[in-house]
Amino acid sequence: MTRAVIVGSGSDIPPTRVTNAMLARIMDTSDEWIRERSGVEVRHYVERGVGTSDLGVAAARRALDRAGVSPESVDMVVFATMTPDYYFPGSGALLQAKLGLRDVPCFDIRQQCVGFLYGLQLADAQVRAGLARTVLLVGAEIHTGFMPWTAANWEYMLGRADVPPTPEEFAWNTRFRHLTVLFGDAASAVVIRAGEDSRGVVDSLLHTSGADYDKLYVPGTGFKHRPYTDPEQFRRGDHIPVMDGRHVFKMATTNMIAVAQEVLARNEVEMDDVALVLMHQANKRINEYCQKALGIPESKVLHNIERYGNTTAATIPLLWDEAARSGRLSPGDLVLLVAFGGGMHWGATLVRA
Ligand code: ACO
Repeated sequence: MTRAVIVGSGSDIPPTRVTNAMLARIMDTSDEWIRERSGVEVRHYVERGVGTSDLGVAAARRALDRAGVSPESVDMVVFATMTPDYYFPGSGALLQAKLGLRDVPCFDIRQQCVGFLYGLQLADAQVRAGLARTVLLVGAEIHTGFMPWTAANWEYMLGRADVPPTPEEFAWNTRFRHLTVLFGDAASAVVIRAGEDSRGVVDSLLHTSGADYDKLYVPGTGFKHRPYTDPEQFRRGDHIPVMDGRHVFKMATTNMIAVAQEVLARNEVEMDDVALVLMHQANKRINEYCQKALGIPESKVLHNIERYGNTTAATIPLLWDEAARSGRLSPGDLVLLVAFGGGMHWGATLVRA
């Protein structure tokens, strides 16, 4: 049977490293709160002017190099992001041009933290149907565009200027602290090739429930508004995501546990058969809870939230890439990928490395 096999991976982490203490310069937060409640210690931010496709290109080049696959052989692109360079076109088309690919089809998908799992199923289906043989699947995010800080506050936070926020600016930044401290910028990509042996995507189980969309969404800058963006929306802060953290926390734990159990059961696989579990990194406490409920030993889990924060669609491929490069992943290993995110979307995928 033909399946989508991951034959190479690569990542790009932007150079500007931001600690929790740096964020505490411009809002009422602390290293202790952020570490204890989320597990994040450091995240990386792009410099102004860098687009999601730029990060994606750097990650894709590394993935192609490691796979030993030439850009000319790519016959499909799937780009997962919730933070594209432009409203349209999607970042997939931009990446195609920057990488000098042929005029192959480019899909842009937006399933937030589950984007990579949706992209993997899409790529697998295309490969199984014989529509593509080499797919470039990219997960990339630049969350810094969501940060509601003034240019001067940015400079102060980064230690490049010495003018602190006004009390009004400090209060405004604090209003969004439960969200802004969690996220970081990153990109990661995998090269997928059609394979005929037992390696590749074994099974993929995806779910969506739009009923709770408003527990994690961006209320402004959409075409429900006329015009779709205006100064009033910015004054209200409607361009910044709204997140009911506690609600999302409960939904994430319940659904990640259930979907992981479901995909294992329907493939008659025990946790003992799984070599590695890569879970989306939204909050270390969510993952610890899931790990305990699923009986996953510490030796089978990788995490990177402490170093990168939540990188949304980039998280799962980033974990895959780190596992591959650190020798944690051997050909033939069974890997379980699990994710939950805004939409709400969730899913679990079994892949033989
Ligand atoms: N620094 C200091 N204090 C803070 C901060 C902060 N950064 N953020 C919130 N607080 C305060 C709150 O104001 C509140 O204060 P109060 O008790 O005086 O009202 C207190 O801390 C507790 O706030 P909670 O929201 O109850 O804290 P909680 O323990 O739930 O942690 C968090 C919040 C980290 C957001 C958590 O709920 C979470 O991680 N939720 C899930 C997030 C998630 O999974 N997102 C999905 C993926 S993202 C995607 O799909 C794009």
